[in-house]
Amino acid sequence: MEKRIEKLRKELAKQDLDGVIINHPSNRFYLSGFTGSAGTVMVTPASAMLITDFRYTEQAQEQAPHLEVIEHDLKKMDTLGELILREKAKRIGFEADFETFSTVEQQLKEKIENVEWVPTQNFVEKFRNYKSPEELEYLQKAVDLADLALEHICGFIKPGMKERDVALELEFFMRKKGAKGSSFEIIVASGPRGSLPHGIASDKEIKEGDLVVIDMGARLNGYASDVTRTFAIGKAGEKEKEIYNTVLEAQLAAIEGIKPGMSGQEADKLSRDIISQKGYGNNFGHGLGHGIGIDVHESPRLSPISENTLEKGMVFTIEPGIYLPGWGGVRIEDIVVMEDDGVRSLTRAQKEFKII
Ligand code: GLY
Ligand code: MN
Ligand code: MN
Repeated sequence: MEKRIEKLRKELAKQDLDGVIINHPSNRFYLSGFTGSAGTVMVTPASAMLITDFRYTEQAQEQAPHLEVIEHDLKKMDTLGELILREKAKRIGFEADFETFSTVEQQLKEKIENVEWVPTQNFVEKFRNYKSPEELEYLQKAVDLADLALEHICGFIKPGMKERDVALELEFFMRKKGAKGSSFEIIVASGPRGSLPHGIASDKEIKEGDLVVIDMGARLNGYASDVTRTFAIGKAGEKEKEIYNTVLEAQLAAIEGIKPGMSGQEADKLSRDIISQKGYGNNFGHGLGHGIGIDVHESPRLSPISENTLEKGMVFTIEPGIYLPGWGGVRIEDIVVMEDDGVRSLTRAQKEFKII
């Protein structure tokens, strides 16, 4: 955590700032390890503080020993103003994508004068793009738990069950194994519902012959996982197998072909070309993947319009799909980490076509 504060200080110097205030919960967690729901991290060249309220002071001291924990008065902005005066800060950055200029400027105006509020973007996020060995361990644990839950659910699903029963079982299983919860609302989309890329589990009964798209993940130690598998229930026809194998081929091509330095657009094309050649180009209507870490969706993006460069240490999903309205859909999603000469999959759940 100290290293993260040091990186931030270098960025302060680069942008000629005397300090920065961080309120976005994921960025706050990244810099502090503090999991409470309210608090501000302020970093200046000489100090690093976590300002929170009475409910969280003790927790903050435990979780963020590298920061000066300050309990604020009834009005947080009054305390913040005093600290800004203490630090003699004049040019202070704030997260323009998260809070408005008026929040910081108006509320502090009476307290302090002559402070220049500087909107910043990606101030913390740009460091979060590159995962440390410790973060990779946390991610691997969150991925492993999702893999285990998928394995469990294969022995659980039976025709006649509702999609929601399957989602509930997945959630229960992961929480019993230590997850804080699902990293997003679980998708169980069976039969024709499979053409809804984000078909949240419904009351629909799962029937023999359905393909079922299950997209889920665990939140564990502050990190999220995200995995999709598509299974056939009881039996499968030729079309189900053909579409499945097209998606699998596209997914494997991306895993094989993505190299450091590629753009998100080039990576996306590796899968998209295969799906298009088979005639399903119009049925793959979302990007190939997204970064993942503390948030389920972070930078970089892999899509036809992404100009992000994929670099060593980045962790992202690879999730091509084919969706046919009225018929259903197939998606296969793994999490990978970029290494020196290509990507390595953190997801280990098997992905050969499977009838359960
Ligand atoms: N479940 C959301 C996603 O795969 O991005
Ligand atoms: Mn997913
Ligand atoms: Mn995803």
